[in-house]
Amino acid sequence: MVAYVRRVAAPTSKLTASGSFTTAAAGAPARADTVTAAAPPTIDVVWLLRNMLHTSTRPEKGPGLGYLPARWLDGELLTGALRSLGRQSGTQLLGFGSPQGFLPLRQQLQTRMAELEIGATPEQIVLVSGITQAIDLLARIYMQPGDTVIVGDPAWFQMFGRFASQGARLVGMPYTPEGPDLDALEALVETWRPKMLVINSVLQNPTGTSLTAAQAFRILRLAEQYDFIVVEDDIYGDLCPTGYPATRLASLDQLRRVIYLGSFSKTLAPNLRVGYIASALDVTQAVADQKMLVGMTSPELNERVLYRVLTEGHYRRHVERLRARLDGVRDKAARMLERAGCRVFTAPGAGMFLWADTGVDADALTAAGHEAGFLLAPGSLFSPHQSPTTWMRFNIANCGDPALPAFLADYVEGVARRGAAISGGDS
Ligand SMILES: Cc1ncc(COP(=O)(O)O)c(C=O)c1O
Repeated sequence: MVAYVRRVAAPTSKLTASGSFTTAAAGAPARADTVTAAAPPTIDVVWLLRNMLHTSTRPEKGPGLGYLPARWLDGELLTGALRSLGRQSGTQLLGFGSPQGFLPLRQQLQTRMAELEIGATPEQIVLVSGITQAIDLLARIYMQPGDTVIVGDPAWFQMFGRFASQGARLVGMPYTPEGPDLDALEALVETWRPKMLVINSVLQNPTGTSLTAAQAFRILRLAEQYDFIVVEDDIYGDLCPTGYPATRLASLDQLRRVIYLGSFSKTLAPNLRVGYIASALDVTQAVADQKMLVGMTSPELNERVLYRVLTEGHYRRHVERLRARLDGVRDKAARMLERAGCRVFTAPGAGMFLWADTGVDADALTAAGHEAGFLLAPGSLFSPHQSPTTWMRFNIANCGDPALPAFLADYVEGVARRGAAISGGDS
């Protein structure tokens, strides 16, 4: 079928004076996670994020985008909630709010987590401005210079810089089409004795894999044995239909060692900026304190909007529609990629991403895509050591532009032709 992501070695990264992170394994300067005055036009995390936000109005040109097109989402869910809020007195919004966030929303999240068999009281939940902030808070609380955090290789790139900025060493756990390579994980924890593992357990970004119960159990066993914290990022969970084979670590561990993160950026609106952290009470306290130190509270207006959407709106029906829509384009996108000469890592039955081997340097293809008006997401950015790769992440909701297959096929064939001409000339 399809190949392993070819990185089993344990690259490490450290923070440079400029705030970028470098890999100890490669020893080469890596991409900056910070904006500098004269930033070179390199394809890096900031470049991708900046372009993602600019491409949002033309999603058909953005197979590299990390979120669903606005026309797939339901603005009426938000405006309905806002109208309903507008009928109330605004007096409650005039203070600072509570450090842990709007209590009725936390109670609502308790009910949602109970449906996933995760037991959490509202006191164990802190609302945050998305998982991006959750990761930043956890990095600040737990990471000291020289500590190791294990992340997926590949994984969601934005968290790498947050850990590196605390001086943490990033170590990559490879993935197979069946999920994280747990033999490799065992070797990594044995070598690096990490303080934390961060894992996107369900419909992982970018591979689309989800943990089986056996994998989840083995990860928790390793966490016990080597005494590390497990941070479970479940941002894509609502895209997972009932009965889909996916196990949440928190449902097995019940928030003893696992810190569980959720968000509504992918299903409701990325700009709502409401996410949450559920954890053991001592962790909750530390998170709430850190949140207060960094930014006081989170915007209660947004939290009240989300509360109304969950309690009065048709959120469930909306996510069912999203899943059906994704189901309608997944195979088409995979076939398009294969016809263009790419090899799909695995074919998940849910979610919004396909991870594919283009056979050509992904950064160069991204640069060519940029010229042609397409925003692509090169696999190099999804690796904690950010070295060159031929892999790329595709958002299946944004693969429908009729010019995309021709662009990909022409580029991939062009590189193959030039390669053949060079090797032919050599002989
Ligand atoms: C795995 C993962 N976690 C977190 C995020 C960001 O979450 P939020 O918008 O809640 O900050 C993303 C967005 O791409 C993601 O893919």
